Amino acid sequence: MLAPMQKNKSLVLGITAGIAAYKAAELVRLLIKANIDVQVVMTESATQFITPTTMQALSGKPVFVGMWDEGVDNGMPHIELSRNADAILIAPATAEFVAKLLHGRADDLLSTLCLARDCPLLVAPAMNKQMWENPATQRNFKQLAADNIAVLGPGSGEQACGETGDGRMLEATELFAHIEAHFTPKILADKQLLITAGATLEMIDPVRGITNLSSGKMGYAIAQAAANMGAKVTLVSGPTHLPPPHNVAFISVNSAASMYEAVMQNIQNQDVFIGVAAVADYAPTEVAQHKIKKTADTLTLTLHRNKDILAEVAHLPNPPFCVGFAAESEHVVEYAEKKRITKKLALIVANEVTSAMGHDDNQVTLIDDNGNHPLVRAPKSTIATQLLEHITHLL
Ligand code: PMT
Repeated sequence: MLAPMQKNKSLVLGITAGIAAYKAAELVRLLIKANIDVQVVMTESATQFITPTTMQALSGKPVFVGMWDEGVDNGMPHIELSRNADAILIAPATAEFVAKLLHGRADDLLSTLCLARDCPLLVAPAMNKQMWENPATQRNFKQLAADNIAVLGPGSGEQACGETGDGRMLEATELFAHIEAHFTPKILADKQLLITAGATLEMIDPVRGITNLSSGKMGYAIAQAAANMGAKVTLVSGPTHLPPPHNVAFISVNSAASMYEAVMQNIQNQDVFIGVAAVADYAPTEVAQHKIKKTADTLTLTLHRNKDILAEVAHLPNPPFCVGFAAESEHVVEYAEKKRITKKLALIVANEVTSAMGHDDNQVTLIDDNGNHPLVRAPKSTIATQLLEHITHLL
């Protein structure tokens, strides 16, 4: 049985007066796309940087600014707006607003809302490097942590004032990843997962190699979802164009042999091993030291068989819970089940290779001792969540 989907989460997004307010617009778009209900509340000065009309259009809800705005039934927006919220995020959070938070001041709607909250508060600082480094700001942020208020960032880099350093607000995608992780139930807390992803690259000469079309999307989605669920995740990845997932120990490899080494070095104490990588079954026996010249009409490569990483892990004396993927082009479920038995796996995920590799979504069937569990085609992030929920049931 797969676990039911979580109910939609709801977030109050507080915007204070910083140039990074423009990033809040993109953040709202990402949150809404992920079915998170967003109520925007802005300070009066924040409206100098981005208009409530923009935020209303993106969030699909009226935006509140002043204490005396009409629109909340009982006339108490400072209580009502956060009553059903699962969290409040202040992004951008100015140095001034943070100072106000720490002293429990409540002289506008947003600060009053924060003081009257009954849910977690997260802040994403955004300020010039000198303001961030000022001892007063540093003191304030230390106190935030002591008050159980989560601080997201700041990032480092070029600033609107022309300087470079710490104080930039995190990008919308980074803040979204934090919120997504915050809202995910920690069903894998205390668990350690090792995951392989992407294709491997078997070199022929210094500039040519044998690889395949795996993008890494499926494996990265599983690594991110597992980290969001509270697991300690190590991702061993072949070459991909994807940024490493957040909060994941990332090991980059090229060949099947280097992937094998990385897995074996990290396999101890793992609770779960998931082989998502499309590992090359064969590699050239010899790698030419120099670029092979186009002299002969034909070229023959001798290949030797690579070690099967998943099978070797599953046959260790004390193996972790082993999950394989089977990429098949015909008799998908039947061939996958055969692989599950031969490799001694608790669970295998069967997918049709041409409609899975490189795509953003996937259709899979989970196969375990209890039979087949087909999942409907969905984004890889959704498949990842459903797979991990299934694994926790089996664990
Ligand atoms: O990366 P994407 O573009 O998102 O595509 C995802 C995917 C199609 C690559 C993924 O969903 C998938 O099916 N991965 C497994 C691909 C594969 O190599 O399947 P296989 O049937 O050849 O291998 C079976 C299992 O043994 C896999 O878990 C594989 O990681 C593992 N294996 C295979 C060979 C080998 N030498 N070592 C291994 O560990």
